[in-house]
Amino acid sequence: TTVWVPCDAAARAVGADEVAEAFAAAGATVRRNGSRGMLWLEPLVEVETDAGRIGYAAVRPQYAGDILAGNHVDLGVVEDHPWLADQHRVTFTRVGRHEPTDLAAYRSDGGYAGLERALTLDPADVVAEVTTSGLRGRGGAGFPTGIKWETVRKAASDLKFVCCNADEGDSGTFADRMLLEGDPFSLLEGMTIAAYAVGASEGYVYVRSEYPDAIATLRRAIDVARAGGWLGRHIAGREGFTFDLHVRVGAGAYICGEETSMLDSLEGKRGEVRAKPPIPALVGLFSQPTVVNNVLSLATVPMILADGGEAYAALGTGRSRGTQVFQLAGNVKQGGIVEADFGITLRELIEGYGGGTRSGRPLKAAQVGGPLGAYVAGDQLDLPMDYEAFAEAGAMIGHGGIVVFDDTMDAADMARFAMEFCAKESCGKCTPCRIGSVRGVEVIDRIRSAPDADSRHQAFVLLEDLCTTMEKGSLCAMGGLTPMPVRSALRHFPADFAQNPPVDS
Ligand code: NAI
Ligand code: SF4
Repeated sequence: TTVWVPCDAAARAVGADEVAEAFAAAGATVRRNGSRGMLWLEPLVEVETDAGRIGYAAVRPQYAGDILAGNHVDLGVVEDHPWLADQHRVTFTRVGRHEPTDLAAYRSDGGYAGLERALTLDPADVVAEVTTSGLRGRGGAGFPTGIKWETVRKAASDLKFVCCNADEGDSGTFADRMLLEGDPFSLLEGMTIAAYAVGASEGYVYVRSEYPDAIATLRRAIDVARAGGWLGRHIAGREGFTFDLHVRVGAGAYICGEETSMLDSLEGKRGEVRAKPPIPALVGLFSQPTVVNNVLSLATVPMILADGGEAYAALGTGRSRGTQVFQLAGNVKQGGIVEADFGITLRELIEGYGGGTRSGRPLKAAQVGGPLGAYVAGDQLDLPMDYEAFAEAGAMIGHGGIVVFDDTMDAADMARFAMEFCAKESCGKCTPCRIGSVRGVEVIDRIRSAPDADSRHQAFVLLEDLCTTMEKGSLCAMGGLTPMPVRSALRHFPADFAQNPPVDS
């Protein structure tokens, strides 16, 4: 019997390795796949049968014998599980199906069809296909990928780079990691297509050190792709096209996820934000024209080239085309990966897929788009997931992370945390962020411990002023976006700021 046990870090964290050992000891052939993204069911074991791969949830080593004997409650065919079947998996389509570095499986499941097609086109037409798709940067800013690539393609230089940002520092986000651990070839293929399109010969993947499994899988995938003729010289037999990849590991600074800090770090320097312009597309790594894209943006490109930009553009809403890989986390019953077309509402994600709060208490808010994202609450939960609709509401979709909170959450604590986080992670280059964040913590403390309404009001005015200074005067999104969670917490939950003076620090 063949049994699949995920090797994803989330599954390993709840005992998948011990489960795999138990099945092997019981005589099964154990294969390790990426995670399907139904994280509350991990370790989710799948047993191959004639009817398909039958799933077993939250498996413990001692269940192995019963499962192999057919004496354990099952979930039915995993791919038919409604939570998964209702999703629209495009970027994540292969994650969980195969052994992550099984090149033959990748090929047989549509892998490298996008690159093969790209190599039959002119580089300018490859860029045009990406522009047609409407794909926007999945790292958070949502800048059109095709326009970025066209800037690099047109830049005159003999040396260009493609860099993948896999620093994924946002709390509550894990899609980059799961893709790296579950389907790394799709990233390699996307980067190779990008290199061909813009005329680059070298690429770097910058991965955070907190992701040791992702780093190991990625390195193995690069070796396998190189041996298979999909990296290096004469890719897919094509004369004159050379592209190779290197992995670089970060050292734990959130700011190294900001693209110019990341480039500094890749150059061996201390990661510090560079002023823009010049944009990295023109003056990037080692001052050369450079594509910098997030893991998910690059991993979506193979499908766009294989099926055509129009097919991708047919999905989504407004100017937000295609799908987004949402990550449900925090106080939620069914956390994990939900890939859906843009336009789905936050409520559908949290109450539908998520099943509401894990505590069973009323939902208070969700923080969308990482620690610099807004708290979304009330009727805002019915907003469609759309970059523009969120921006209009003073929020952002960012990298698609959704952290759910029940009614025990104290919004003033969270606002204070945003300032504290900024103070800790600031690169220190500009004053509004470096000093402003420290003052922000103090002012929030002052609001909460104000002896009367008048002094509380004065502190509110000061906080508002400080937020405006940080927003308008900071050099990058770290200082510039920190006011977003603070302001949204104030807007939705002013009462939380009028009580509970802080006791810590
Ligand atoms: P940005 O708006 O300055 O730039 C977005 C991208 O477009 C950059 O790559 C930039 O170089 C490029 N670009 C801008 N104008 C261009 C042009 N004319 N031609 C070609 N390329 C151009 O935003 P930034 O500062 O890069 O990112 C901020 C976002 O990062 C935030 O909205 C937040 O959502 C996200 N973020 C994501 C994190 C994660 O873990 N994924 C962590 C922290 C923030
Ligand atoms: Fe550095 Fe903060 Fe200024 Fe960004 S906003 S450049 S992180 S000090």
